Amino acid sequence: MIRYLTAGESHGKGLSVIIDGIPSNLEISKEYLDFYLSERQKGYGRGKRQQIEKDDAEIISGIRYGKTTGAPVCVFIKNKDYENWKDIIKSEKGEPENEFNIPRPGHADFAGGIKYNQYDLRNILERASARETAARVVAGAICKKILSEFDIDVLGYVINIGGISTDSDKNLTIEKIKSKINQVESKINGDLRFPDFEKAKKIINLIENVKKEGDTLGGIVKVITSKLPVGLGSYVQWDKKLDANIAKAILSIQAFKGIEFGAGFSYSHYKGSQIHDEIYYSKGKFFRKTNNAGGIEGGMTNGEPIILTAVVKPISTVLKGLYSVNIRTKQKVKTKYERSDFCAVPSAALIAEMVVAIEIANAFLEKFGNDDLGAIKENYKNYLKYIKKY
Ligand SMILES: Cc1cc2nc3c(=O)[nH]c(=O)nc-3n(C[C@H](O)[C@H](O)[C@H](O)COP(=O)(O)O)c2cc1C
Repeated sequence: MIRYLTAGESHGKGLSVIIDGIPSNLEISKEYLDFYLSERQKGYGRGKRQQIEKDDAEIISGIRYGKTTGAPVCVFIKNKDYENWKDIIKSEKGEPENEFNIPRPGHADFAGGIKYNQYDLRNILERASARETAARVVAGAICKKILSEFDIDVLGYVINIGGISTDSDKNLTIEKIKSKINQVESKINGDLRFPDFEKAKKIINLIENVKKEGDTLGGIVKVITSKLPVGLGSYVQWDKKLDANIAKAILSIQAFKGIEFGAGFSYSHYKGSQIHDEIYYSKGKFFRKTNNAGGIEGGMTNGEPIILTAVVKPISTVLKGLYSVNIRTKQKVKTKYERSDFCAVPSAALIAEMVVAIEIANAFLEKFGNDDLGAIKENYKNYLKYIKKY
């Protein structure tokens, strides 16, 4: 079983992640992890923070001579911005200089302040911040590497920002979508993780206008996989259901507020006979002509790609301010602005890709073993032979 925990504050010394359950003999390099860390930092509409940080994975344990040993993997990512904050975020005794007293609607400040009995809400926001996802990206990148050993790919990308959406990705394979995204990015000279050039131009205009207004945007991301073997996850116990585990992972990402698998909420528009993916058999293979289930039935992969969409709310630190209350004086005030993203949907898409990779890798290892990559490959080969005969 893969388990992981993260620690660290947004402007503290750095972020740490400990990942347990990674099999031995998997090749992982610092450069490989740094690649995905830099992908997380990209995206049109991000704030100045990303210019300060250049995330850099320091491998602390679990990897030797470029390969995992089977021991827990621990990685540290230093916050470069800490240099500017070390008098504010410190563990030594003292009183905070400038308390953060005005909770931002939409952020964790208000509920967190009351829950943990904190009047300096910095003690809440530092940990609630999505900077934490840098640590999760490391865990996700390692899990993506496991999956790649079995030719399984996962891609998270954007299909909507601020209401401008595309369906030009419909029925395309991961490779085709990646190539469309690359084409768009080379034309706009920026990172959107979005596969439609005409709409991308509109999105960029919208982001620029919203920035000028001092406001923020959200959007919708989509995650798809290549075809998966049948039978990852299980219906036999609630906590083994792959769709449920993926949903939890997605909703655990900061600002994600909803998820749909396959036809999702549109299921309600159809009769059962119109929407369920009928099963066919030809030349020794079962197959479907549609994938409205989004690749999961009964909490298990059904052999089709997993397809899900998820909504990301607009960033809650709004430059023009929102009404709130100073928790010390109880006066009605507008929120103060603290350096922040205007739109983080492209980065959110990458993070969604990563947490989905973790859940799929977990279900994969649950089925084929946890210890040694070579042995897992043997088990997988035998399973594919068995499926052919079924
Ligand atoms: C990639 C990413 C970047 C984010 N950047 C910011 C930010 O700069 N400012 C902000 O107020 N919220 C940002 N958020 C959202 C907050 O972290 C989030 O709204 C907050 O922690 C409260 O959690 P909730 O929205 O899940 O309820 C970001 C979210 C993601 C996924």
